[in-house]
Amino acid sequence: MANVTVIGAQWGDEGKGKIVDWLASRADAVVRFQGGHNAGHTLVIDGHVFKLSLLPSGIVSGTLSIIGNGVVLDPWALKSEVEKLEGQGVSITDDNFAIADNCPLILPMHRDLDGLREAAAGKGKIGTTGRGIGPAYEDKVGRRAIRVCDLAHLDTLDPQLDRLCAHHDALRAGFDQPPVDRAALLEELREIAPFVMRFAQPVWKRLKKVKRAGAKILFEGAQGVLLDVDHGTYPFVTSSNTVSGTAASGSGLGPNSTGFVLGIVKAYTTRVGSGPFPTELDDADGQTLGERGHEFGVVTGRKRRCGWFDAVIVRQSCAISGVTGIALTKVDVLDGFETVKICTGYRLRGKVYDYLPAHAADQAAVEPIYEEMEGWQQTTAGARSWADLPANAIKYIQRVQELIETPVALVSTSPERDDTILVRDPFMD
Ligand code: IMP
Repeated sequence: MANVTVIGAQWGDEGKGKIVDWLASRADAVVRFQGGHNAGHTLVIDGHVFKLSLLPSGIVSGTLSIIGNGVVLDPWALKSEVEKLEGQGVSITDDNFAIADNCPLILPMHRDLDGLREAAAGKGKIGTTGRGIGPAYEDKVGRRAIRVCDLAHLDTLDPQLDRLCAHHDALRAGFDQPPVDRAALLEELREIAPFVMRFAQPVWKRLKKVKRAGAKILFEGAQGVLLDVDHGTYPFVTSSNTVSGTAASGSGLGPNSTGFVLGIVKAYTTRVGSGPFPTELDDADGQTLGERGHEFGVVTGRKRRCGWFDAVIVRQSCAISGVTGIALTKVDVLDGFETVKICTGYRLRGKVYDYLPAHAADQAAVEPIYEEMEGWQQTTAGARSWADLPANAIKYIQRVQELIETPVALVSTSPERDDTILVRDPFMD
């Protein structure tokens, strides 16, 4: 079986877009299985830049692209992304795009609540993307959500709206906000329904067919394992499970379908939003990483926090997600440093840890233990074989691989699709 599941092994923004795009060009179907339009994937193809938030990356190359039930879908954000891509010449039809009919919707009230809570939290805020992701997932597990299939039954939506609005109106009252305008919401849903319903179907069935035909399926994860609602730096996490196992539950294919798990790992570490970050650099090196790596969020434009590579969290992510091999990205950002550092463990109250403890206060207090390596002055940008890399860059990559106890399958050396060193082809495994 030649399926591949791609996940981020840090706090997101590892450069998944390029790798997914490269794999998508050889896949028969690409499936998003969690998250929503909080994700930001940048694809650069023949010098053209495509920015995706909600649509699977396969859409640009015309591959069958599927939004699974594990995603929370903002129908208005979807429409504007589809229109933007169509404006760039991408064809999106009910032939190459499908949405799970059991996918929960993100509604304006979710975005409101996300914003109100963050504003009220002051210093304790999570630093969400403000897209309403958390509140929409809360309504899903609270069994109050409006789902894609409900858009075909708007005339009988009242009892569901009663439950949903009773919940939200109480929360809104606590923030001195007026109740939800139900009439306006229904009107907006009526307007958007035909656009969404054009693509809606039982995706699990479509995937079953695709699988039976022996097709190659690419599962495209968003965010990263350290943002997973169970395994991440809770409560500074997103509201979905970002680990590889979600590819099965979030799409409707069994756990034996996820195939090769490819963990995307950036050669240093970044994080956007609040929360613990043991190797964060507040100095000139951190500044250099941010500038060279163009570390600004695709979705929110926020400046990302930067730091040295943390082998502890990546080793943990690889174990939790059963990573078969990693794609190491942005090695070229480290070009020119005299020395580069890798975090190999943490010190906390006199004890050494080889993992990130679960408690938020401990996560914030751990001190990184670093190993220093000699840097390299030559450029690695655009390298396509090991022979193109300086010896110290190769040593660095080998050390990373050793410390995370997971082999390197790919090294990406620029945003361009072909600037990649292929060690092991995930689809051929
Ligand atoms: P939410 O997903 O908008 O609720 O945000 C929760 C946390 O996840 C915040 O720290 C966000 O910055 C972070 N986050 C959400 N999506 C992404 C992403 O695609 N890349 C990086 N961080 C993300």
